[in-house]
Amino acid sequence: MKFRSIKGTKDILPGESEKWQFVEALIREVMHEANYREIRTPVFEETALFQRSIGELTDIVSKEMYTFRDRSDESVTLKPEGTASVLRAYIQYNLGEQSPLTKLYYIGPMFRQERPQAGRLRQFHQFGAEALGSSSPQLDVEMMLIPLEVCRRLGIGSVTLKVNSVGCEKCRPAYRKRLVQELMAVYDQLSEESKTRVKQNPLRVLDSKDERDRAATRTAPLMKDFLCDECRMHFAEVERLLKETKTPYEIDGRLVRGLDYYTKTAFEITSAALGSQDALAGGGRYDLLVHELGGKPTAGVGFAAGMERLMIILEKLGQSPDPHIRPDLYIAAADNAARRWAFRFAHQLRQKGVAADLDYLGRSLKAQMREANRQNARYVIVIGDKELATGKAKLKKMESGQEEEVLLTDLASKLA
Ligand code: HAM
Repeated sequence: MKFRSIKGTKDILPGESEKWQFVEALIREVMHEANYREIRTPVFEETALFQRSIGELTDIVSKEMYTFRDRSDESVTLKPEGTASVLRAYIQYNLGEQSPLTKLYYIGPMFRQERPQAGRLRQFHQFGAEALGSSSPQLDVEMMLIPLEVCRRLGIGSVTLKVNSVGCEKCRPAYRKRLVQELMAVYDQLSEESKTRVKQNPLRVLDSKDERDRAATRTAPLMKDFLCDECRMHFAEVERLLKETKTPYEIDGRLVRGLDYYTKTAFEITSAALGSQDALAGGGRYDLLVHELGGKPTAGVGFAAGMERLMIILEKLGQSPDPHIRPDLYIAAADNAARRWAFRFAHQLRQKGVAADLDYLGRSLKAQMREANRQNARYVIVIGDKELATGKAKLKKMESGQEEEVLLTDLASKLA
């Protein structure tokens, strides 16, 4: 074969796509219940938007973005995440002026040039939400509850919610300085990657998975012990709300997240069913980001979850949805006159909301019956001279094999 899909991309084929539709519909339901409205942003944006929001020194911006110059020599980037685009649109259309609190959600493709492996793709899909305009810790917890509710409805019980606070512009600089001092004391023991991070992005050293880093930073100071009063109270309220909603959680003082925009709350939802790429969802508060991108100072919080990872968990747990996609009626035609009639009749049935199909390959009646079986059609009718002359046919229910004579003019209402 000549053409293959690009490494790290996946086709969602029939059989799979129905499962996606089912899960997407469930996500929309959960979002609707929490009063989030859908936003659809373009697949590509000005490169600077992501550099500015996610941070120049993050892995995403420094090594994973699909960035290219278009034919007008503008630098554009396929979106590696949704938050930056949502905020760009929020600012561009003054959504904050229409209402002091804006709750938005999205489902769509994202692009990161990572090394592909199980649960890690170069084009993947996220569902996520952003709430703009309030600094209430209730919204931080709402952002955790939404993906957890999606999991609950899909029968996924085995997930872990990890929360942390990454502080704010008031308390983080002093902590950062302190952390760098400590990291410099163990510099030689760190992995090469962490060595480069010490100066640029020292907090990331703490969530390194490398054993050397783990060992060297065992006693390193954690942000959560250096929070200012405001951040500490905010985090305490988040914890109180989690307890109040009976939501199991763990505090993970090393949780930093791979994007630079977070302030205060940061969280992740992981699942052991995922293996090494165990993060199903991640999110947190970003109270400085709207202003940073040119809008009025506006508090914000959000999350995003990986659709492919959700599907992997469902598959592993044997919880994969089994949506019944099948024709209501298969029209088997005995000869050419019947075939012509069948095409017209299928058109009429479809206009009335009946899923009808027929044979387009000139196959024998026997082969048409086999096809109806393969398609798992609910009913079949066989049309020949007699049926066309009398306007009546035998409607066969495929499950039971039961047959019933019906007027063809009654068929649509009967099946609908
Ligand atoms: P993120 O942690 O980078 O956060 O991504 C969220 C989720 O997207 C991950 O937990 C994972 O399930 C999925 N994901 C990320 N990269 C890949 C990949 N290469 N292949 C498959 N799945 C992947 C964000 O994107 C933030 N925008 C979340 C957020 C929204 N924070 C505030 N608002």
